[in-house]
Amino acid sequence: MKIRAAVLEEFGQPLEVQEVDLAEPKAGEVLVRLEACGVCHTDLYTASGADPSGYTPTVLGHEGAGVVESVGPGVESLAPGDHVVTLFSPQCRECEHCRDPRTNLCLAIREEQNLGHLPDGSTRLSRDGEPIRHFMGTSTFAEYTVMPEIALAKVNPEAPADRTCLFACGLSTGLGAAMFTAKVTAGSTCVVFGAGMVGLGAVAGCRLQEAERIICVDLSPDRLEMAREQGATDLLEADEDTVARILEMTGGFGADYTFEATGLVQVMQQAVESARMAWGLCTIAGVAGKGETLDIVPRLLITGRRVAGSSFGGVKGRDQVPELIDRYLAGEINVDPFLSHQLSLDDVNRGFELMEAQDGIRSVIKFD
Ligand code: CU
Ligand code: ZN
Repeated sequence: MKIRAAVLEEFGQPLEVQEVDLAEPKAGEVLVRLEACGVCHTDLYTASGADPSGYTPTVLGHEGAGVVESVGPGVESLAPGDHVVTLFSPQCRECEHCRDPRTNLCLAIREEQNLGHLPDGSTRLSRDGEPIRHFMGTSTFAEYTVMPEIALAKVNPEAPADRTCLFACGLSTGLGAAMFTAKVTAGSTCVVFGAGMVGLGAVAGCRLQEAERIICVDLSPDRLEMAREQGATDLLEADEDTVARILEMTGGFGADYTFEATGLVQVMQQAVESARMAWGLCTIAGVAGKGETLDIVPRLLITGRRVAGSSFGGVKGRDQVPELIDRYLAGEINVDPFLSHQLSLDDVNRGFELMEAQDGIRSVIKFD
């Protein structure tokens, strides 16, 4: 079929919205009609050419929500009409990692997905017979996408797609960092560095875990106000004394849990140093640039601090994204403030501009 999609033709150039071909889903694959898609930093990072593993031409986009249109042979968990959220982090439920509660890093399709292929090593996207690769296995800046069944979470159809798409990446990453990676305990003190989509999600996650104190650190007073709405109890404008001020606020010890959601290695260092002696756990959710390293004084570890990394918040996507969306529908997660701008697919480059200007938390593309 012919579909409209935003294609990255050349690194550093604007995406080009155009007509491309999308083939029928093969075995284990699903055709999804997209209703909404968030514009995320990872899309911009790849479009800019900064990611050395990037490729062109490709259809970007990985924060999608939509409705199943048809399914390929052997697909049993989804049927036409089901509402779904796309998962760049799949869950096959069968591999060694999927069967282990300690991780969400499914092993089933990693290599082909990293190459921009569907699991059988080919693409369904093409143009004049030339293959177009599937970015992050999702390619959701498009009216339709074909994805593996194991990379789609079936969600409550009552939840609007322009909200559920945020659970496809940033929001779940933040919520999950607090709920599933750190497993914040009730009554604890938490610090969240960064009040973008991931950091605000982490603040909400700490609140859901019944943390007593949630300190949020950011450069922007406006974003800190958003953190307060999500449950932050203390707001801190970042400066060179941030760590000293956090230690002062926590009786000289530091926090039980700290979260890093900026991707800046200097901030990661502050997050480690702000974790409490004896048991403080620092969770890194931000993605640093390729080749960057994190400096930690070993004494901080010997004296009991721990450091954990969190990819997609440790969320096992097919099982836990639907649960998070149910909690949103139950009124426990306030998603509306995150949706800052609504765009059409033709305005996708405007979404990148807004992100670079740090205007709002998320721009969401709506398809009609
Ligand atoms: Cu993302
Ligand atoms: Zn798996």
